[in-house]
Amino acid sequence: MNSGLPSIEIRRLADVPQVAPFLKAWLLEEWESWYGPDGPGDIDAAYPTRADGNRLPVPLVAMDDADAVVGTICIREQTSPHAQFSPWAGGLLVARDRRRQGIGTALVKAAEDEARRLGVRKLYLETHAAASIVVRRGWSAVAPGEPADGPAMVYALDL
Ligand SMILES: CC(C)(COP(=O)(O)OP(=O)(O)OC[C@H]1O[C@@H](n2cnc3c(N)ncnc32)[C@H](O)[C@@H]1OP(=O)(O)O)[C@@H](O)C(=O)NCCC(=O)NCCS
Repeated sequence: MNSGLPSIEIRRLADVPQVAPFLKAWLLEEWESWYGPDGPGDIDAAYPTRADGNRLPVPLVAMDDADAVVGTICIREQTSPHAQFSPWAGGLLVARDRRRQGIGTALVKAAEDEARRLGVRKLYLETHAAASIVVRRGWSAVAPGEPADGPAMVYALDL
């Protein structure tokens, strides 16, 4: 997938399974409270090594011209507490030293394109940090995020 950025390519994890161990270690480090041993997340289920690009979850990775993973996003079925907002683009993350270069925006756009390809009519995500990115891309706030009195909102985009 063309990211629109020089030297960044966005790939389905299904097409580059060799980066899955790095991706999982990175996500575990960044979101230990979710994916760690005491957290509710199951990283192997969320990022299956043998992911099928035509069935959710569809993890995407942004790779640079040295084939290093510099960002990720994942389209998945949503479960509790937001089961009514599904499918969902989650796990948006860009390497710290590569932020503010447009990679996050490119990943959101790639998730939109992938969801469209999969026949999704409406895509959701929850964010505070990426709010300006999604609002610029035409997403609308549809509900408070978690916790309900926090700054995060659930956004939706008609595809
Ligand atoms: C949130 C996050 C994904 C954004 O990724 P990113 O790659 O920095 O996103 P972008 O570069 O597309 O956009 C970020 C900002 O940089 C600006 N920007 C983009 N390219 C730029 C450039 N070449 N020069 C200067 N600024 C640039 C964008 O306009 C945007 O500005 P804004 O904050 O006013 O909206 C990243 O900060 C991150 O991984 N955060 C930690 C995890 C997280 O919070 N994830 C969100 C949960 S859903």
